[in-house]
Amino acid sequence: MSKIKPSKGAPYARILGVGGYRPTRVVPNEVILEKIDSSDEWIRSRSGIETRHWAGPEETVAAMSVEASGKALADAGIDASRIGAVVVSTVSHFSQTPAIATEIADRLGTDKAAAFDISAGCAGFGYGLTLAKGMIVEGSAEYVLVIGVERLSDLTDLEDRATAFLFGDGAGAVVVGPSQEPAIGPTVWGSEGDKAETIKQTVSWDRFLPHLRPRSGGGTPTGDVSELPVDSEGNVKFPAITQEGQAVFRWAVFEMAKVAQQALDAAGISPDDLDVFIPHQANVRIIDSMVKTLKLPEHVTVARDIRTTGNTSAASIPLAMERLLATGDAKSGDTALVIGFGAGLVYAATVVTLP
Ligand SMILES: CC(C)(COP(=O)(O)OP(=O)(O)OC[C@H]1O[C@@H](n2cnc3c(N)ncnc32)[C@H](O)[C@@H]1OP(=O)(O)O)[C@@H](O)C(=O)NCCC(=O)NCCS
Repeated sequence: MSKIKPSKGAPYARILGVGGYRPTRVVPNEVILEKIDSSDEWIRSRSGIETRHWAGPEETVAAMSVEASGKALADAGIDASRIGAVVVSTVSHFSQTPAIATEIADRLGTDKAAAFDISAGCAGFGYGLTLAKGMIVEGSAEYVLVIGVERLSDLTDLEDRATAFLFGDGAGAVVVGPSQEPAIGPTVWGSEGDKAETIKQTVSWDRFLPHLRPRSGGGTPTGDVSELPVDSEGNVKFPAITQEGQAVFRWAVFEMAKVAQQALDAAGISPDDLDVFIPHQANVRIIDSMVKTLKLPEHVTVARDIRTTGNTSAASIPLAMERLLATGDAKSGDTALVIGFGAGLVYAATVVTLP
């Protein structure tokens, strides 16, 4: 028989507060058109995007996260010292180690909270939320901060007409804590690594490494930099994100509606019971198609934050949630279906009670 005492957590978990940070610089489609052959009309009609935010030098991954988290903590009425874990979902923090979550936990004034980063692309918020719920119910943390944050402008090739208009920057955060009733449903999540090639960095870091890595024992890098890809001005290109737009679009439209339905079923919720739908903000046509396939009734409020935010990957769902609550389009206690999907390919869907 085991000698280990069972851990004691809360019966259930819920989102207690949400906060967002959008960089001050608003970038209209006109700016994107300086480097690609396209039109404002094409971008609006094919993606739904009118403007997006791009971070300035001071609006780092950590700085944006601290801003969004401060708002989420205030919204929840929880002091940072009570946060037991900080989970940061991002693909645009460029140091492998240490995790940016540790710096964020420190800057927020947590009391040595556990802190780590996860890489789950545009499903990252759902992955983080699932971990947070587990920690709270299992008892390893009373309150958990889940942050989705991206500076995708750093990973965007502005000369690639297939992606230049899509991405934006920002941070969204939620405080997750104990609840006496279910307020985060079962997560339906997964990965399809056979489709990994459909969204990825153009040039993997492996190709850069020989050029960047000094000879053993120090010294200057040995590689021939002329082998690296360059832009039209001859500058070495950073490994930007590329995607097979149509393939991802079809996958999202056909497969993600099924996953969303499974999350509703797992939570025991019918579309009629729903108040709000917050899908990943990748393309307004994907959102509209899911609404149709799921047969969501008229009364369900649908997040279309993509118009002014673009695709902010892990930040997209908490940012959209924050905006719906701030504008009064959704209210505290509403039942919302959230679904994220993207690079991996990965996905995560669940039903939550809004904070
Ligand atoms: C990227 C995306 C908006 C492109 O829209 P699309 O309708 O699939 O566009 P296509 O790639 O099929 O291209 C259609 C036509 O527009 C053209 N086109 C492509 N990019 C263009 C641009 N920026 N401006 C003008 N025309 C463009 C193509 O050349 C093509 O022309 P053709 O018909 O003469 O060959 C869309 O595929 C998408 O949103 N994909 C999924 C994104 C997603 O879900 N990501 C999730 C994870 S992050």
